[in-house]
Amino acid sequence: MAERLYIFDTTLRDGEQAPGYSMNLEEKIRIAKQLEALGVDIIEAGFAISSPGDAESVETIARSVNDVTVASLARCVKKDIDAAWNAVKVANRPRIHVFLATSDLHLEYKLRMSREEALERVKENVAYARSFCPDIEFSLEDATRTDHDYMCRVVEAAINAGATTINLPDTVGYASPDDIRNMVDNVINRVPNIDKAIISMHCHDDLGLGVANTLSGVRAGARQVECTLCGIGERAGNAALEEIVMAIKTRPDLYDLEMNIKTEELYRSARLLSSTTGVKIFPSKAIVGDNAFAHESGIHQHGMMANSLTYEIMTPESVGVVKTNYVLGKHSGQHALRRKLEEMGYVLPDEEVANLFSEFKKLCDRKKNITDRDIIALVESTEQPEKKIWSLVSYVVNSGNKMTSTACISLKKGDKVYEGIAAGTGPVYASLRAVEKIIHHPFSLEDYQLSAVTEHRDALGEALVKISDGEHTYRGRGVSTDVIEASILACLSAVNRMLEGEVSSITGGDSAIKMSFDNDMLVGHTDKEAADANDND
Ligand code: KIV
Ligand code: ZN
Repeated sequence: MAERLYIFDTTLRDGEQAPGYSMNLEEKIRIAKQLEALGVDIIEAGFAISSPGDAESVETIARSVNDVTVASLARCVKKDIDAAWNAVKVANRPRIHVFLATSDLHLEYKLRMSREEALERVKENVAYARSFCPDIEFSLEDATRTDHDYMCRVVEAAINAGATTINLPDTVGYASPDDIRNMVDNVINRVPNIDKAIISMHCHDDLGLGVANTLSGVRAGARQVECTLCGIGERAGNAALEEIVMAIKTRPDLYDLEMNIKTEELYRSARLLSSTTGVKIFPSKAIVGDNAFAHESGIHQHGMMANSLTYEIMTPESVGVVKTNYVLGKHSGQHALRRKLEEMGYVLPDEEVANLFSEFKKLCDRKKNITDRDIIALVESTEQPEKKIWSLVSYVVNSGNKMTSTACISLKKGDKVYEGIAAGTGPVYASLRAVEKIIHHPFSLEDYQLSAVTEHRDALGEALVKISDGEHTYRGRGVSTDVIEASILACLSAVNRMLEGEVSSITGGDSAIKMSFDNDMLVGHTDKEAADANDND
């Protein structure tokens, strides 16, 4: 029988640590539940000691999922282990993940510790963690730059102290696939008690080798892989879960291993991450990018028609990219929408379908043919988890090449409607200023992207914005057939994330607002025009 490969997902810890990917509690729970549906074996839910917010999210995730191990990271010290255990102990299957750097470089310059001191620390703290929890992972941070003899001593000591998984990370993404194979061979051949633990790989992608290195470790005998959805993570990221999984599934001749992953959930998991964080999936991203299964060239199309195996090594359906034949339009009813959603794998409660149906009807008034991608965009825009503190009531925007753009926007908060008027050197600029005036909370625009969801003229426009209040950045996403509306919706989604948790009071008047939009976005306009626009406020 094939051996089992365990999938350890660290999207919510190593991934979330990366700039631009921070998530609130509700968002993390949503991702965790999708990871459970995907069938990962272990979810690393956070680093409990790092903040009370992280501890709360690890604990809430531990309560919210059933059929998956929940891990918290901990440095090799008692207070971290206590915090990790307090957060994960409510899980059906808790794990404490303890780590300590073992390369001479890290020991000398970061930890200022000798090899012997580090070894003692490992013995003491792994045993301490094991006194609470039967499932202990120990990671030798910077393993790929650690002396092999010393590595064997640390691994043996950690297993003797109670570690059940030994992780050998390529922390800085420095190793080659050959280095990884040698490292794993070394541990398997020289650590006498290695049969009592599972070896794990955790490879960063600084040289673009994260997945290749992980797979090399698997070939050498590692039976756990640590990865993130779409490879998000520190710097160049971590090894991408969907790539590792599909490489193993597509090449059983190389990897005769069983996994618990339902590969049909891969696309949806990646989309959920993207719609939650507002970070688009790169079109040519392997497995889940929009172009991953697109065959544009004539030669490829010809081959595909003759026999799909000519150019297709896996089917789009196998990763959850479903092309339905069932077209929806203006005359389709709620029942038809539900059927379509189910065909696409969305089984939603009645209330959500009813909600979507009213959005769908609005879309039908603006767009003749509703494609599968439109439906996905609708589902994603209605499932944004931020609290709707402010919502859009109406907007009027005037713009032209011989005038200063103006925007008049009405927003609703509670049952009150507020209006803001602003001018700007472009319609988006004017609209965002009007929003800023109404909410009485300055923010700067750090990033703005606009794209079409589908290819036709009546396509839905998708706007992604990143705003900053000076301390944190917040992302938002908006979808509409009108790109100005999409931009306002994206801005409001980011604003609501920014204001969540804050008590914002509306006092009326607008003169005190700091206008802080980045003038970089005023492409093609002079400073004088921007100044004139400011004068109009
Ligand atoms: O990259 C790394 O070494 C880590 C460890 C904490 C596992 O993320
Ligand atoms: Zn890492």
